Amino acid sequence: MKKTPPAPLSAWRPLNIDKFLIGVPHYPEHVDETYWDHDAQRMAEAGFNSVRMGEFAWHIWEPYQGHFDFDLFDRAIEGLARHGIKTILCTPTATPPRWLTQAHPEMLRVDANGRTASHGSRQHCDTSSPVLRDHSRRITRAMAEHYANNPNVIGWQTDNELNTTTSISFSPSCEIEFRKWCHLRYGTIDKLNGAWGGDFWATHYDNFDQVLLPYPNNPGHISPGHRQDYHRFLAHATAAFQRDQVEILRATNPDWFVFHNLGQLEDIDFRSEFSTDLDFLGFDIYPMLYDEMRRHGGHAYSQALHLDICRGFTGNFIVPEQASGFGSQPLLSTMTPEPGEMRRMALTSVARGADGLMFFRWRPAHFGAEIYWMGVLDHDDQPRRRYAEAKQFASDIASIKSDLLGSSVRMDVGIAGSDFDNQEAYRTYPMGLPSPLEDATVLHRALYKRNIATGFVHPEDDLSRLKALYVPHWLMWEQEWTDNLRAFVEGGGLLIASAMTGTRTRDNHILRELAPGMGLGDLPGVRVEEFGRVIAPGQDGLFLPPQKTMGFGPGGAPLPACSTARSYGIRFGNETFAAAHLYEKLILQDDVEALATWADRWLEGEAVLTRRALGKGCSHYLGTYMTEDLAHRLIDQLFVPAGISSLLHGMPEGIEVTERTQEDGKRMLFVLNTTERPVTVPLEGGKIDLLTGASLGTEARIEGYGAIVLRA
Ligand code: GAL
Repeated sequence: MKKTPPAPLSAWRPLNIDKFLIGVPHYPEHVDETYWDHDAQRMAEAGFNSVRMGEFAWHIWEPYQGHFDFDLFDRAIEGLARHGIKTILCTPTATPPRWLTQAHPEMLRVDANGRTASHGSRQHCDTSSPVLRDHSRRITRAMAEHYANNPNVIGWQTDNELNTTTSISFSPSCEIEFRKWCHLRYGTIDKLNGAWGGDFWATHYDNFDQVLLPYPNNPGHISPGHRQDYHRFLAHATAAFQRDQVEILRATNPDWFVFHNLGQLEDIDFRSEFSTDLDFLGFDIYPMLYDEMRRHGGHAYSQALHLDICRGFTGNFIVPEQASGFGSQPLLSTMTPEPGEMRRMALTSVARGADGLMFFRWRPAHFGAEIYWMGVLDHDDQPRRRYAEAKQFASDIASIKSDLLGSSVRMDVGIAGSDFDNQEAYRTYPMGLPSPLEDATVLHRALYKRNIATGFVHPEDDLSRLKALYVPHWLMWEQEWTDNLRAFVEGGGLLIASAMTGTRTRDNHILRELAPGMGLGDLPGVRVEEFGRVIAPGQDGLFLPPQKTMGFGPGGAPLPACSTARSYGIRFGNETFAAAHLYEKLILQDDVEALATWADRWLEGEAVLTRRALGKGCSHYLGTYMTEDLAHRLIDQLFVPAGISSLLHGMPEGIEVTERTQEDGKRMLFVLNTTERPVTVPLEGGKIDLLTGASLGTEARIEGYGAIVLRA
């Protein structure tokens, strides 16, 4: 395996290793050693080349302080290597052992109600704790030194899904660290008071020792600046915790690749040193779970959305945990992938940027908090349909990997994403409005349904490969981003910036100019004179769900409709349809055209969607939030005329199409059937299915959950 230095972060960045990692997270410590050789033999027969191990085994690596025991994993690594399987090790810091939490209870997390985390599950310790950091460096160093020259250990995962169980802590130690961070950031207490707005509600501090953690609703609302800095601090602490480990691993063996597996994406700034410290990101993919938790509109779509979000941070990634079967923890269970669907889901991950993939997990556990979380094998140690599908997937990858590695995922329509500060700025003051990501999802889903190549991209990234860019309500904006967007539009791009963008400073203060600020308004030639609420689809005009009304509502029961709730329509071409969430009243420069107008009340005839020609492209402003109706009309009336269309035409519903493109322009099209029914799809003819080598005519039958991969 060859590793090159990682390129700068970009949604277009391929992986920096020349091998497609394929295998499973493996827990040899959960079974008797008599299973091990048979396990390795069956993994090799399935076509696996690697396993990931050790993330929850600190108590085995170090049974008591300073006494290390590598025996079990040494033998496991050696046994796997005899069958050609390499090992990725994990730093085991998601589960500090009991001897450590007993000796140092001060490193346990404390929640906002003052409840200290108990030993007995995972992520109970606070990554900002200097005591935990000392021990994390100790165990990392011991493991790294032990495996430094072991040719069967090829790389490392830091910790496991940092911040997924929880990211927050209100422990005394966390408060001390927060104060230090504030001191470093601001230097003087006056600067902190200025940033947080200390003259509002007497939230002024006399010195850094007085600074408190921002307890939510205790009793009233915290300043947005204070809340934002707490989350910046948590992200900084998470990155620093990881950096301790990465520095040791890199200094010990620079040939190892180092990554992290993302879970819930809380309090991690993926476009910061958190990712630049790594070779690439890993992203754990559980489509059924995400769909049931977040209801984005079906697990196939939910998976595609999550993959596109992840790719926006740093480009291609690996999937260290890909759902294989029924999943459960004591209080939840997910739908089960149907026959063929596990392979289809794995191919979707590859189609949207995965350059390595491991099926979670080799065998299910027989004890512990995930006894019904199924693996590739069953509880009785038998390989059944999931094993067969994993094997089939490994053979799929063998057929396409030479075309695949080095390619990036095509995006014609980019959606501004991956910005930690904007995500947090929204959360400091949501007002019952959709978040930038929720709004973006409405457009993303409409594009997904039409198989238009899309994804998320940061405005500082290379935009030259896009045809269009949508900016969904980014409160904080930078002049450099305006410059990058201007070059994109002048070069022929289509830009749509939407309501509330460019309205706050980095401290969460409202700008002292009409929005959009930071030069952004000059691109569409528009300023926002006034704004107000429009009712959300299906709702009654109230801003907050009852449980968030601080005791003023009837406690959990729906509140009666508000008599002053107002709905507004949008007139776009010959049609009028309902708007949602927010209106803006716009002032237009002379060279700006109104493409759509408000249809009702005092706003009737005022512009809601505008267009201004700029260089070879066009800059648009949208003075409201996205709805499904609006998204489809934007596609029809703006994107299609700009030459943006489906990657393959005439696809039946449920067929997912994406393209991976090589630097030299070579293209691969993934055509995946996300339904259980066979379908016949029209094709150009004369193409080869890279998975089977078959020559295809002007149509192809794709089995339920089946796939074809075309060289375009
Ligand atoms: C992941 C986690 C694994 C396992 C899996 C199934 O989030 O990294 O350790 O818990 O989910 O629940």
